[in-house]
Amino acid sequence: MSEDIYVLGIETSCDETAASVVKNGIEIISNVVASQIESHKRFGGVVPEIASRHHVEQITLVIEEALKEADMVPAQLSAVAVTEGPGLVGALLIGVNAAKAFAFAHQLPIVGVHHIAGHIYANRLAQEMQFPLLALVISGGHTELVYMNEHGHFDVIGETRDDAAGEAYDKVARTLNLPYPGGPHIDRLAHESNKPVDFPRVWLEEGSYDFSFSGLKSSVLNYMHNAAQRGDQVEPADVAAGFQNSVVEVVTAKTLRAAEQYKVKQVIAAGGVAANKGLRASLEKAFAEKGTPFFIPPLSLCTDNAAMIAAAGTIMYEKGIRGNMAMNGRPGMEMDSWI
Ligand code: KG4
Ligand code: ZN
Repeated sequence: MSEDIYVLGIETSCDETAASVVKNGIEIISNVVASQIESHKRFGGVVPEIASRHHVEQITLVIEEALKEADMVPAQLSAVAVTEGPGLVGALLIGVNAAKAFAFAHQLPIVGVHHIAGHIYANRLAQEMQFPLLALVISGGHTELVYMNEHGHFDVIGETRDDAAGEAYDKVARTLNLPYPGGPHIDRLAHESNKPVDFPRVWLEEGSYDFSFSGLKSSVLNYMHNAAQRGDQVEPADVAAGFQNSVVEVVTAKTLRAAEQYKVKQVIAAGGVAANKGLRASLEKAFAEKGTPFFIPPLSLCTDNAAMIAAAGTIMYEKGIRGNMAMNGRPGMEMDSWI
């Protein structure tokens, strides 16, 4: 019988300081997330300098807490996995340096994980991944369709050409004077409208799996601006619903078409926007009609966490991939396959 693998995951790419211990890439032993949302709220978005400062203050405590919760000592670990990129450079550096120091002090191997691979592997903590699969990664920083024919092999078939979906959600929310992060507020409001505003659908060239949300965002801003100039009363729920309808329709249609073209056995979603009720319902309905298994991990695994980094890091560790003490934060890291 082969030995169990315990990986300590560390995530600091944006505004969550997180550490987690995962067993064999599938079982969460501990999962600690210190969110900074309260500190960024009053600025209406993540302020990189503030994020870095929080990470510095929290990282040691969060790692200690993850080990305590797991009831483990460092010598019981097999490896340390850390988000190497993409993300905010100052924020990434803190996680990477903490991981290097921890690995060096305890003589453990280290692996550097791509943040999106982490989001995809969050699914493995909730159910078995079936290949070939299609992953929709939709968050504050990313909107991507990734095809995988086996573990560790990523083919990005579509991505956003401008704003990420969550970013557009947050900006539209801001114009409606909703608090940061705005996604959940728009989602809630959208369900209160029975007269959604008709905003455009951005499909791009025929056959493209790429996304674009900045034009839609501008349409919403123009609509608000024109209404204000005319002195018209705007119903926020109708704007929220119109915006959400446009996002949901395009994202669902592209995901469905990609799943058909690539003949996948499973479709998974990940990232903060995957928590959106309208999007979930639309994707669930579309794939139920198609008969393709569709899965979204629980909300706590959709948003940034370190268990997903440990889960992805476990596969890399098993494949013999190792980082070293020269590792650095890579803000623009590309999603390379591991094989
Ligand atoms: O994955 P995540 O925690 O962080 C990134 O890696 O970006 O995603 C955060 C994003 C924010 O933009 C937030 O507004 C959005 O996810 N979000 C939602 C919902 N819940 C969170 N967007 C739409 N509907 C929601 N229910
Ligand atoms: Zn993320």
